[in-house]
Amino acid sequence: MAVNGNVIRNGAPLPDLSHHLSSETRSRIPNPMKAIWRLAQRTPGVINMANGDPHHTLYPISEIAFKVPSISHADPVSAWRTDESSTQTFISSKDESCALSLREALQYGSGVGLPEVREVLQQLTDLLHAPTANHTITMSLGNVDAVTKCFRLLGDPGEAFLAEEFSFPGMTNAPLAHNIRWVPVRLDKEGMIPEDLERVLRDWDESKRGKRPHVLYTVPCGQNPTGSTLTLDRRKDIYDIACRWDLIILEDDPYYFLQYDKPPMKAEDIEKDGFAKTFARSLVPSFLSLDTEGRVMRIDSFSKIIAPGMRLGWITSNSAFAPHFENLIDSSTQHPHGLGQAFVTEMLAGKGGWHMDGFARWVKSLCDEYQRRRDFLAKLFDTELGDSGYASVEIPEAGMFLWIKINIDKHPKYQKDGAGRSNMLLLMEELFQRLLEAGVMMMPGYVFEIMDEDTTDSRCNHFRTTFAGDEDTMEKGTGVFGKTVRTFFES
Ligand SMILES: Cc1ncc(COP(=O)(O)O)c(C=O)c1O
Repeated sequence: MAVNGNVIRNGAPLPDLSHHLSSETRSRIPNPMKAIWRLAQRTPGVINMANGDPHHTLYPISEIAFKVPSISHADPVSAWRTDESSTQTFISSKDESCALSLREALQYGSGVGLPEVREVLQQLTDLLHAPTANHTITMSLGNVDAVTKCFRLLGDPGEAFLAEEFSFPGMTNAPLAHNIRWVPVRLDKEGMIPEDLERVLRDWDESKRGKRPHVLYTVPCGQNPTGSTLTLDRRKDIYDIACRWDLIILEDDPYYFLQYDKPPMKAEDIEKDGFAKTFARSLVPSFLSLDTEGRVMRIDSFSKIIAPGMRLGWITSNSAFAPHFENLIDSSTQHPHGLGQAFVTEMLAGKGGWHMDGFARWVKSLCDEYQRRRDFLAKLFDTELGDSGYASVEIPEAGMFLWIKINIDKHPKYQKDGAGRSNMLLLMEELFQRLLEAGVMMMPGYVFEIMDEDTTDSRCNHFRTTFAGDEDTMEKGTGVFGKTVRTFFES
């Protein structure tokens, strides 16, 4: 295979993957003003009279103090929720020294993110995933922004992409308008089934179905909506399939830090290697960490671990793809959120920041909190419907969702016609309506379903519900859900 000049860290060449780029990406030219701006950035002492950049003395902000949880508590999330005094402060300043000056954070900036924040995110990514191939960090406005940019980077109209058979429509809806269709790969509680991925690729007849899919979109931890998490063995098998069938893997991993039921971290390991490294070792290895050919684009977000309104995340991709992201950003979203970049840089590298170990303490504690909520909801569900035979749940090992299976074939009105088509979808719609009328909304599984190309028959007798909310919401909602489901089956 040809070499693109982009080198693995151990010196071996990476394959040329440029044939994966869409025609849109190939024909996009760099924004000429940004190209000149970058030239000026590289020219020391240049007097910039070219851009309409508001002067920093005219910003009506000189300092921002972010009051955050103190990371000195053993369980900082619980302390934060109950104890007003357990706080510390990150300061972002325009005129005083800090990790990322507000002069830069509030100015028009680099589309791929400011150097200070990219540097700390590179360190974080190295610590968590130790990617072997030469990767570049490109910042985003969160994972929806990042993944939909990846779709545009790679997809041409008429192509088909692969995804788990139930997937997050926030993503899968986007490329439909570009005439890209989805092909489902079956999954179970351990995530996408490698044998099914192989089957889809092997049986693909290009003369009938067009170009074989070259992009695999996957949510490997706490998959949305099913809550499944890919085992390490499956990750290895899927990566191997990706290499053999020349796939790009889009690893959308917003729930990566929320992995449950891990053995307690050992004090001697923390003492020896620090909290962040020890915590990282407890998490299932990512596709990025297995990537020796530069074919994984990993997409991380601060939405679930800091706050969704930050609109901040980062793509870790083969460096050969990075300039194409930059071109796309320069002619669309411009650059990530300035205050978010200031916050993250102070948090990870500022004088009063949490730094890597403190950040890991926060996410570990958050993870414990979500695990408690997961167990709370699972218990409620068990009390309401556990013995009914009408519904069941798998307990997820990560994420925020419980995937409820309704045993719709036990419903008195359930039927199948001679061709094997059932009225499942109609009954599920009826149950959804009844739940809404009773005052509870759970996401009907059919909104996540990716149909096989040769059928319109739904396979989805599920609801997605979340344990991200508070106990009161879960208690009331599950109570109504349980009663409504029983009435639905019994009347
Ligand atoms: C799989 C998946 N990707 C991405 C997102 C959204 O990420 P962000 O808020 O970073 O855009 C979500 C949920 O909101 C999700 O479930």
